[in-house]
Amino acid sequence: MKVLIVGSGGREHAIAWKLLQDDPTLDVLAAPGNPGIGTLARCVPIQADDLRGILALAREEAVDLTVIGPEAPLDAGIVDLFRTNHLAIFGPTRGAARIETSKRFAKELMAHAGVPTAHASHHTSVDTALGAAHALGAPVVIKASGLAAGKGVVIASTMAEAERAITEMLDGGIFGAAGSEVLVEEFMEGEEVSIFAICDGQHSRLMIAAQDHKRLEDGDIGPNTGGMGAYAPVSLDTPAFREFVKVRIIDRILAALREEGHPFTGLLYAGLMLTAGGPMVVEFNCRFGDPETQALLPLMASSLLQPMLTVARGETLVGTPEFDWLPDSCVTTVLAAAGYPAAVRKGDPITFPEPQEGVYVFHAGTRLADDSAKPTTPIPAVVTSGGRVLSVSAVAPTLHAAATMSRHYAGRISFAGKQMRHDIGWRELFREIEAPHDGNRHA
Ligand code: AMP
Ligand code: GLY
Repeated sequence: MKVLIVGSGGREHAIAWKLLQDDPTLDVLAAPGNPGIGTLARCVPIQADDLRGILALAREEAVDLTVIGPEAPLDAGIVDLFRTNHLAIFGPTRGAARIETSKRFAKELMAHAGVPTAHASHHTSVDTALGAAHALGAPVVIKASGLAAGKGVVIASTMAEAERAITEMLDGGIFGAAGSEVLVEEFMEGEEVSIFAICDGQHSRLMIAAQDHKRLEDGDIGPNTGGMGAYAPVSLDTPAFREFVKVRIIDRILAALREEGHPFTGLLYAGLMLTAGGPMVVEFNCRFGDPETQALLPLMASSLLQPMLTVARGETLVGTPEFDWLPDSCVTTVLAAAGYPAAVRKGDPITFPEPQEGVYVFHAGTRLADDSAKPTTPIPAVVTSGGRVLSVSAVAPTLHAAATMSRHYAGRISFAGKQMRHDIGWRELFREIEAPHDGNRHA
């Protein structure tokens, strides 16, 4: 069977790795992939947003399943295009992807479906936006309505900050069209967890929860990033919590999307805030999260390929098994380039220690030092070429052991200007100190 993975990050590397674990006989292609993916798959230099190029590749190669990593091609309608051409693809249509690509659409749908989330109002005028912010009082959250590469959110702790964010987005146009409408949203307090669900348009299968670390520096300080690390499982993910998330959040939003005529197929990512009043949705994404995927897939004992095929072929998940998980923990530490998350320096040579059992290095912002070299195993010399360069996932029987392994191995990978956090999983480690678990976390 031939599978095409679209994208070039650590997330796509982890998906390629997992699909090959599920079926080592798979023939995997990646567009455009990266040098790490190149050790597992044939990388074809077609960019993820080149929809026609990807369609032509899938046809030429008679690909059986195409898996989309990033949101941009979903937003551009790649799933609609493949379906018109009768090709199996894992991901939502453009209409369903609006659950991520339009915060306004997502908010309205949540309100309609009775999905718990923060109150918000949308504005194209500075005056009404300011009025709404004043009515809520600080802290208040200001968001660009469209896709702003995860950067269009300002948590304003004072009214002056809120005013600055509103005027910059609406008048200054700092996020372009994505900021021509803003959401003024109530601030939610609590711990954040991510839950991924594979959905067939009507039914869902939930993965275990993971927790991302969005700030650049240890102790959750410094600028927001795409994610500096993640871990799983999370002990807050109890059976009662899962039931709530499945019934009150995932299944309700699936029903609402179906009613709208846009059934959601693919991976639905719920970013949740565990508030004193229960779990509330911060955002939905229409694709796997990065770096949560790199922390979840090494723990997934059951097949990812099977449910992906089921959904991509338009079949039902009813009657398919729930997912199985190793009884271990996984900690993923992201290595970022000099300058990240602002202007990133590229071209720094990377050196790796010897491989270690239980440690998986997933590539993101790397490229071959010699462009003419062919990706092989082991990888030829690579240099940095993007913000998040690598992610290092370690699997061990305890979170503490996994965190130590991930941190140590990540510390031994070297390149000039390397940035990494040393405290991935700290909230959970603190919880373990306060109330040691009984080793029966998934029961
Ligand atoms: P978003 O792009 O909507 O996921 O927001 C990015 C980050 O901003 C989230 O992961 C949260 O940490 C934070 N955030 C967004 N909305 C809220 C809110 N209403 N209350 C508190 N934090 C928020
Ligand atoms: N880890 C956050 C995201 O993928 O959006």
